[in-house]
Amino acid sequence: MTLTVREAAWDRIAELAGRPGAGAIRALFDADPQRFDSFHRQAVGILLDFSKTSVDAAALQGLLDLAQACGVLPRRDAMAAGEEINTTEKRAVLHMALRAPRGAGYRARLPSGETEDASASVDETLAAMKRFTRAIHRGEIRGATGETFTDVINIGIGGSDLGPYMIGRALWNARSPMRPLYLANADAHNWEAIRPRLNPHRTLVLIASKTFTTAETMANARIVRGWLEQNLGEVGARRHLVALSTNQEATAAFGVAPDRVFGFHDWVGGRFSLWSAIGLSIALSCGWTAFSQLLAGARAMDEHFLTAPPEQNLPLLLALLTIWHVNGLGLRSQAILPYDHRLSRFPAHLQQLEMESLGKSVTLDGEPVGRETGPVIFGEPGTNAQHSFMQLLHQGTTPVPADFVLVANPDHPFAENHRLLLSNGLAQAEALLRGRTPAEVEAEMAAAGTGAEEIGRLLPHRLFPGDRPSTTLLLDKLDPHSLGALVALYEHKVFCLGALWDIDAFDQWGVELGKKLATSILPELAPEASPGRHDPSTAGLIARIRELQAAAEE
Ligand code: F6P
Repeated sequence: MTLTVREAAWDRIAELAGRPGAGAIRALFDADPQRFDSFHRQAVGILLDFSKTSVDAAALQGLLDLAQACGVLPRRDAMAAGEEINTTEKRAVLHMALRAPRGAGYRARLPSGETEDASASVDETLAAMKRFTRAIHRGEIRGATGETFTDVINIGIGGSDLGPYMIGRALWNARSPMRPLYLANADAHNWEAIRPRLNPHRTLVLIASKTFTTAETMANARIVRGWLEQNLGEVGARRHLVALSTNQEATAAFGVAPDRVFGFHDWVGGRFSLWSAIGLSIALSCGWTAFSQLLAGARAMDEHFLTAPPEQNLPLLLALLTIWHVNGLGLRSQAILPYDHRLSRFPAHLQQLEMESLGKSVTLDGEPVGRETGPVIFGEPGTNAQHSFMQLLHQGTTPVPADFVLVANPDHPFAENHRLLLSNGLAQAEALLRGRTPAEVEAEMAAAGTGAEEIGRLLPHRLFPGDRPSTTLLLDKLDPHSLGALVALYEHKVFCLGALWDIDAFDQWGVELGKKLATSILPELAPEASPGRHDPSTAGLIARIRELQAAAEE
């Protein structure tokens, strides 16, 4: 598509969003009470309701035209074909290969121009992970002192932590085979909090790092290896160590036995890696069946994404809603509200997935994007969110589009609680839409016996503007299959947004500078070290920290 066609499609979005009342939603329901029927879709067991947004038929058409003008679907096909669509890192993007059926034939294009059989290596790794998981569960592989492994600790950060942690939280229950623990933060208080809960004789330690160079992960891995060595000796400790990484040289140097290394390739991005060897903690803690169902659910969403027409394609539609809100209406943040406590880490996972992927300001050609890109993502499970930040969504100055995730059937017997939960989720979305008018507030206060003067005083505070957008994703149950589909839905949404904004959604150069500066500051924090060159604020803080540390030692 030519630039002109693309720019014309963007202009059309601006024009549609510039219509008087373009952000209104209630009026759309007044005009079309059947709006829910026209503005919801269903696929892979997920119902996506976007009728509570201000997207109407014209806007939807404009957005679909934009997707076509930006070549989203041809780009999707290039991703599936293993092309190097991560151009700044010269890498293919093949997380779909991780959950494809055996022998699916995915091939990754390498910088040399040759291709490698991605599916073959995925099949091999999955088979090794399955054998290992089963052997651990059956007690065929045991700890150094002959005890069975009951706990598994995953040491990793970013994509090597957030995805597995989020899934582990969602799927683990008291009947699951092993207890999972996650150690991410360089702050050793994290380890101090976990350590008393662990028995070294029964703990399997997974060091999850694509690069095996990430400072925080390696620092934690050294601490935990030391703890194992203290309790089991150097040789014994080795029997408890497993590495999940692409860097076999570094895993060997760290002392992980080659048959305890589960690999993957650089065509798997960190934030898309939970389906790879990085997901071993999920398989160990929740069971192999759960892990393979998770992959199957993601695969079902992949197939939908690859084959459904644009107007039915859930990931594309979800991405286009973001375009409408961010670029059309100028709404720069997005709340994620899962009404299911098992999804309490889902917003954290999406923060990395979306913000590390879409927090970019230049196009693939290195030109300024010229429009807003990734919104700020934040969230909490409902109903907790209602008692923290929902006030701002209801009455703050700028609307914040919200994604509600509702699950019809719980996995517990407390039906009354579940109705309470769902009623709250539905009510929040309804309140955002409907708001509360002066007449309603007045009538309610008068009925409660409030005098006219007091009503006048409080009226402005008790009004809700309404017309605030939300999208609802409704699942029948939360199980490994539906969770896999849900996570893959957001992954593909992110892909679509990358294509729409013409940015590289698969690199993360923005995290480099902080890492580099931390490396230069680190030696300056040692006692007796001489200060380096910094801005006056950083220099002042370093000096003050050293003073405080010196005082604490006296
Ligand atoms: O934060 C930068 C990042 O590279 C993420 O993209 C990645 O998920 C995380 O660090 C961890 O990297 P690794 O798995 O190599 O330790």
